[in-house]
Amino acid sequence: MRPLVFAANWKMHVGPPEAREYLRAFFAAGEIPHERAVWFFPPAVSLEAVAQNVAGHRNVVAGAQDIYWEAKGAFTGAISAPLAAQAGARMTLIGHSERRHVFGETDEQTGEKLAAALAANLQPVLCVGETLAQREAGETTAVVTRQLVAAFAGHSGKRHVTIAYEPVWAIGTGRNATPKDAAEVHRAIRGWLKGNAPAVVPFVILYGGSVNLKNAAELLAEHELDGVLVGGASLDPRGWAQLVRTAVA
Ligand code: PGA
Repeated sequence: MRPLVFAANWKMHVGPPEAREYLRAFFAAGEIPHERAVWFFPPAVSLEAVAQNVAGHRNVVAGAQDIYWEAKGAFTGAISAPLAAQAGARMTLIGHSERRHVFGETDEQTGEKLAAALAANLQPVLCVGETLAQREAGETTAVVTRQLVAAFAGHSGKRHVTIAYEPVWAIGTGRNATPKDAAEVHRAIRGWLKGNAPAVVPFVILYGGSVNLKNAAELLAEHELDGVLVGGASLDPRGWAQLVRTAVA
């Protein structure tokens, strides 16, 4: 069986007491299969609760949903990579489409954040993806490449960076990319990494956007996908416990 990552992005849901309750229910289903990893991205206030409650469970870690690029200072409301690490984060999402499109984060800012994450030893999960208008205009590869170039500007050393391909039109819409569509973009991303960031290891590329119990097996049967990043369908602990055990052909 090939190794697979199941990443849960809780977005603005699940406070600390709920997180503890969630993890009790999730782990009640047993330890996760050997070759699988589960990454939880709770809201910042729940990070410590999640980190404490996944400690000791093999292949399960907590990460931040976002970080600010400065390490410390007068930045009210922001959370730095070192602060997230202190709360128990081992990784962080960077450039999620909601950060880009709701909060106006730029490509350049994702580059600053990627650097800040690496400096604090948080493994970045860089999110890239096109809007519906960009897909229809045939710009998918150009947009994703532009996002990669900006995020990796100035990084050449050996780094653990995961990429999450999340087409904006598929996020929270119930409309997932077909396995074939996702695979095509994954191949383009892998090609770009090989040519431009060969020191990035390993090339782990997740797909995100309306992944659920019904479509996970079909998506993961596509070998270009090294795992999934899941929002809505990760909020129910029993459903998520089932999803991480998806039988893959
Ligand atoms: P969704 O969100 O699974 O609810 O579409 C995915 C994401 O935004 O990471």
